[in-house]
Amino acid sequence: MRMGGLIILVALLTLVLAACGGARSVGGGTTATVPPGVVAGDPVAGIEIYKGVCSTCHGADLKGVGGLGTPLAPSAFVADHSLDALAESIKVGRSVRDPDNATGLDMPPKGGNPSLDDQDLLDVAAYLKALN
Ligand code: HEC
Repeated sequence: MRMGGLIILVALLTLVLAACGGARSVGGGTTATVPPGVVAGDPVAGIEIYKGVCSTCHGADLKGVGGLGTPLAPSAFVADHSLDALAESIKVGRSVRDPDNATGLDMPPKGGNPSLDDQDLLDVAAYLKALN
């Protein structure tokens, strides 16, 4: 009886560890295109990055700040781009010289914070995706 319980416990632990061992993914998305060492975006980690780097222009409520940045929720741009494409677009930004620029206002590369790495960009992109 005690032995049986132990075997079941070990079996359960093995299952749990197997489930946690794989790369994280968000929304069932694939991690195939993510570079080694980088896991798919973590929307919770993205909240802090958003608050620290993006909210000045896009607003703490993501509704945009007049004369500085556009709304990011709801946003067709965020909804229509994959996680990777969104992270890439944040990485390059959209200067006033970019033909796609819609407002005549500058979206600086990485929101103006060069210290953001690929993981940070995926995290903040995942946060935006979670709200769209
Ligand atoms: C200095 C102000 C500023 C900061 C800081 C900033 N942005 Fe922007 N962002 C803009 C502006 C202005 C645009 C619109 C550019 C245009 O006219 O096309 C924009 C556009 C965007 C877009 C495209 C939206 C669309 O509808 O086309 C995304 C996504 C975005 N920003 C994400 C971010 C994220 C994430 C951060 C933080 C890492 C950030 N931005 C930081 C000013 C800023």
